Amino acid sequence: MLLLTLSRSIGRQSISKIGQYARFTHSQPKRITVPDPIEWLPLPRPLVYRKAIMLLSLPIPPSSWPSHLEMASPLLATASANLKSKGIAVNAIYDGIGNETKFANEEQYKARIFWPDGHSKSYDSLNMESISSENLLNDLEYIPKDVNIMDGNQGVTKEILVCTHGSRDCRCSDRGGPLVDALREEAERRGLGNQVKITEIAHVGGHKYAANAILLPSLDMLSNLTLEHAPSIISHILSPKANSQMWAHWRGRFGLTETQQVELWSEINPENNLRKIQKEVEAKEEKVKLRFKTFESEEKIVQAKLGNNLLEVGKENDLPSLEGVCGGNLECATCHLYLPPKPTPSPTGEASDEEFDMLGYALGYKDGESRLGCQVKVTKELSEWCKSGGVIGLPRF
Ligand code: FES
Repeated sequence: MLLLTLSRSIGRQSISKIGQYARFTHSQPKRITVPDPIEWLPLPRPLVYRKAIMLLSLPIPPSSWPSHLEMASPLLATASANLKSKGIAVNAIYDGIGNETKFANEEQYKARIFWPDGHSKSYDSLNMESISSENLLNDLEYIPKDVNIMDGNQGVTKEILVCTHGSRDCRCSDRGGPLVDALREEAERRGLGNQVKITEIAHVGGHKYAANAILLPSLDMLSNLTLEHAPSIISHILSPKANSQMWAHWRGRFGLTETQQVELWSEINPENNLRKIQKEVEAKEEKVKLRFKTFESEEKIVQAKLGNNLLEVGKENDLPSLEGVCGGNLECATCHLYLPPKPTPSPTGEASDEEFDMLGYALGYKDGESRLGCQVKVTKELSEWCKSGGVIGLPRF
């Protein structure tokens, strides 16, 4: 059986250059041979790095979810804000329990956190108080262990989280809904009711790649799924073998850094060019200063790598309000920020038509100032603009 081992002890893992490109210093992955014909889809890869994912179980079915759940759920908004700074993504799910149509005034939900090595924590009742409790904060300090990622984490219950968030994008419910039904039928047919759970999840980014699904416990994301894929998805989650057709639908893995995902992706598909990616990594080494101002008027001067985008700068420097749910794929507008035309127009060029379209979803949009951070690159000229008095504005979360 082919095995691929990646060390995922984030924080303990370092990357060194061997020859032309970056390699992990330990747990060198074995080469996987993927047989033809797999048609590799033109999906964006990798995902923005998240250390873990927290899932809040809402008692409200997805058909009653508003397009932006955080606006309706203060608990979800607080959980996202608190945990985002710790590198943990937060999302809402519906596991078939409850039939409410509105959010309660005093929200209280079951919650689970998943790390990429299969480790997880459950909370029977998470509320505004316990979201900041010491117990929870201690749990978040967990460092994932090295794991074998090709054995499907045997012995652990599998779960497929399919995005069916139709009010956010109708494609998610049009394609996600039938996929949920097909997966449940397939699991039932194979007698896997206790081993593979199918759950609905709120927007996971990539609506144009619907249907999207996150697999637990691996935290892999698959995209461009149709109901015909149901049998293959179930086989894949049970045992993600190298010859699984579903690798063509792989968008990345939460819990791995972008470089680690690239490394893994190149092992899955040897056509990927690590040298090219390494050149991009090296080009980003030089740093310049940028000036930001938070919604509360706090000024922050940060070091930014040339070539990175402003969303990446925000993540690296823990700047508030820059969420980047879709990972820079122009599908969410949660990386919205302001580049005011003062003291001179910012040297960032015009937004593309696609960026303009997505800016229509930005909360607090300002004509002539609003931009999407994932689309604006760090340049020496932008740093000069900041030096001469330009300030990049951050919106309210
Ligand atoms: S991160 Fe989603 S549009 Fe920028």
